Amino acid sequence: TGRGYRRGVSEQPRDSSAPTLFTWEFATDPYPAYAWLREHAPVHRTTLPSGVDAWLVTRYADARKALADPRLSKNPQRHSAAAHAKGKVGIPGEQRADLMTHLLNIDPPDHTRLRRLVSKAFTPRRVAAFTPRVQTLTDQLIDAFEERGEADLIHEFAFPLPIYAICDLLGVPREDQDDFRDWAGAMIRHGGGPRGGVARAVKRIRAYLGGLIHRKRLELVERREEEDGEDLISGLIRASDHGEHLTENEAAAMAFILLFAGFETTVNLIGNGVYALLRHPEQRAVMQRALEEGDERLLAAGVEELLRYDGPVEIATWRFATEPLTLAGQRIAEGEPVLVVLAAADRDPERFAEPDLLDLTRRDNQHLGYGHGIHYCLGAPLARLEAQTAIATLLRRLPGLRLAADPEDLRWRGGLIMRGLRTLPVTWNSA
Ligand code: HEM
Repeated sequence: TGRGYRRGVSEQPRDSSAPTLFTWEFATDPYPAYAWLREHAPVHRTTLPSGVDAWLVTRYADARKALADPRLSKNPQRHSAAAHAKGKVGIPGEQRADLMTHLLNIDPPDHTRLRRLVSKAFTPRRVAAFTPRVQTLTDQLIDAFEERGEADLIHEFAFPLPIYAICDLLGVPREDQDDFRDWAGAMIRHGGGPRGGVARAVKRIRAYLGGLIHRKRLELVERREEEDGEDLISGLIRASDHGEHLTENEAAAMAFILLFAGFETTVNLIGNGVYALLRHPEQRAVMQRALEEGDERLLAAGVEELLRYDGPVEIATWRFATEPLTLAGQRIAEGEPVLVVLAAADRDPERFAEPDLLDLTRRDNQHLGYGHGIHYCLGAPLARLEAQTAIATLLRRLPGLRLAADPEDLRWRGGLIMRGLRTLPVTWNSA
């Protein structure tokens, strides 16, 4: 850009034309601000709403490099400054010690060991076997509002589907799933901040998962062989690698991260995806035609494009420099937080032709919506299954679906990491 960054200090000259981030307008449409950053300050120091300073990485090539850079640690405990920064947005109190030592907060070699163990249980085969259940859940949710001719797709559809799906997959008994729905709701509503509602919900989930895992472990002692349809928690307890197993604490943290990482993301992929289709009638027609023709490839490619265009994970989770390093010419000091802006990278014109265009038939669509490198989304096969089933079933069963609100009036949740609508009012001509 010709802007001479000072060397050796992790500061950046202020530019008066720089956009203001984290305002209400920004939450509604952050893409113009990201375009500015990509062009003028691709590695940009900013003060987050929590008061913590962090670096934002916005270009595709830099984002991909940063996501795979072993000098960027996920473990805030390795640096006191990092722990302090993350503490302001994380979950406070005693839960951090056990539930928070999950995949997204650890580095190799611990990460390698835990990820290998969970991958033995959370297999594509287990997800594929789950297809009919996801279809049934989707149909039941639509049954509940179809006659009414109107619905809020976030609360009545996008929100319950992933929570019931992940509970089923984990092996949470049906009669307990509504409790989970309430706890998960509290976690979303309070935006992950260190406030009472979240801490209480996390505590309940922790206690519940602890009890469930303990019971399942006892059941497994009775039956040694894997049974058909065994749930994921039993699979996690059983998984072993060179004779090593997950401890009960590790299994609880793993179940928690599957719930936590797999929930709001999927809500927002369905919400943002349906919203984008409703705002682009010609693309929606492309999707509708593909569904009529049974073109599963276009359905799959289309959902990937929805993820690139307006994905649920706007910013990847926290990373911290373990040593002084230079990223795209910018010096970053040891301990400083680095936030990779997936939403900005996925609209980089250097990587995607006409990046602001929604094109369900786009080729060469290597987006970063599921991340990259060793922390690449473990749940991507499940996320794809849920989003494809949800969107296809909705359009098939409610072909007259349309937005029942002025887009100007829709509100986006203002969280740092996630991007999603608070409500999505729709209507259709009921039969
Ligand atoms: C990691 C996106 C659904 C489980 C990630 C990451 C992204 C992501 C971007 C990497 C974060 C980073 O590097 O900072 C998404 C999206 C989803 C989705 C867009 C849905 C639409 C799911 C589901 C599950 C899941 C359904 C599980 C049930 C995980 C786990 C990790 C992860 C466990 C951590 C992996 C690791 O650190 O090794 N996801 N995710 N995700 N995701 Fe997903």
